[in-house]
Amino acid sequence: MIRFEHVTKRYADGTTAVDDLSFEVAEGELVTLVGPSGCGKTTTMKMVNRLIEPTEGRIFLDGDDISTIDPVRLRRRIGYVIQQVGLFPHRTVLENTATVPHLLGWKRGKGRERAAELLDLVGLDPSVHGDRYPEQLSGGQRQRVGVARALAADPPVLLMDEPFGAVDPVVRERLQNEFLKLQAQVRKTVLFVTHDIEEAVRLGDRIAVYGQGRIEQFDSPATVLGAPATPYVADFVGADRGLKRLSVTPVEESDLDQPPVVHLDDPLATATERLRSQGARWAVVLDGRDNLHGWIPADATARGAAGGAVRDHARRMEAWLPLGAPLKQGFATMLQHDAGWIAVVDEEGGGRFLGVLTPARLHEALRRSIDADAQDVPRAEVAVETVATVARTS
Ligand SMILES: Nc1ncnc2c1ncn2[C@@H]1O[C@H](COP(=O)(O)OP(=O)(O)O)[C@@H](O)[C@H]1O
Ligand SMILES: [Mg+2]
Repeated sequence: MIRFEHVTKRYADGTTAVDDLSFEVAEGELVTLVGPSGCGKTTTMKMVNRLIEPTEGRIFLDGDDISTIDPVRLRRRIGYVIQQVGLFPHRTVLENTATVPHLLGWKRGKGRERAAELLDLVGLDPSVHGDRYPEQLSGGQRQRVGVARALAADPPVLLMDEPFGAVDPVVRERLQNEFLKLQAQVRKTVLFVTHDIEEAVRLGDRIAVYGQGRIEQFDSPATVLGAPATPYVADFVGADRGLKRLSVTPVEESDLDQPPVVHLDDPLATATERLRSQGARWAVVLDGRDNLHGWIPADATARGAAGGAVRDHARRMEAWLPLGAPLKQGFATMLQHDAGWIAVVDEEGGGRFLGVLTPARLHEALRRSIDADAQDVPRAEVAVETVATVARTS
């Protein structure tokens, strides 16, 4: 969708901001450009909508060489969100959001309708916030309006330059989550600039790590964290990259152990028998719909001789994890509940119990995330921190 071919940008004073850059972003992909200040991220981005012209090389949008496209028409295909949102202070939120449809000559009613739809999409109630002025909004709300405005004409491409850089960390995390949900719905091709590696690995399908004017590594977050291509990248992603990788690796069904399972209405004797045959010290207890209820320890089932049902001795288990959640969430939940295992359920399937995640399986899953993503990297060069190391550094 976006392709850079040997693009170089030298400013008039001789600064080489971008040096022989080649990369490609697929349709619907979210690529984060990350690196320290002054490494050429903004320059890269502004060349895509021709706010800056390259000195050498070519850039293609959906196969078209952008130097042949009229800049004004080009920018209609590209939404642009920056840190200082640049909302018009004397126009309402709704009017600001409808700016591009208005410029495109849409009928007023249609433009406002579309604007209201988009405000809703970014989590602002148009009937509450639509008639306010930008100064009557919080920083986080203004950024949301900026995103809504960029999406107003439904461009296939979004350029975002440190859009959440000016808001506090709590709001930033909320905006990131909302943006991920939004992107899952709208599937734009996104170039997202940030200097924050946490933000880059959180949002990016792939991330481009910049050195001075060059991309040092362009890979999935798990690969960049698990197998940094150069010492520079290793240094940039930080010594705690093992921990960071926990947040970009989802729990999969094959990561789960299958302990003995009993149902609430089973006689206690059945539970005793099942635990004994599998040599287990506890069993997972499910309700009639195969949803998680809790667990039952072996010593409770041993009293089965006295009769009774599992229901009478089962303990509730409040901690669980949805399938696909990051391993980090699993690990955090284990620590929080001081639990040696945690049940994983299929949220989309109505909460059906799937298996349990244990520290040993979590460790294996981390390894799997590298094996899958970095098949070209020799095994010996891939350092996998043990769960114990992770626990010590957290
Ligand atoms: N208009 C300009 N004239 C001269 N140098 C510039 C100009 N804009 C940016 N630069 C320089 O180009 C380099 C890359 O800048 P920039 O792309 O803004 O980096 P980033 O967005 O990664 O912080 C920096 O050294 C910066 O000082
Ligand atoms: Mg910049």
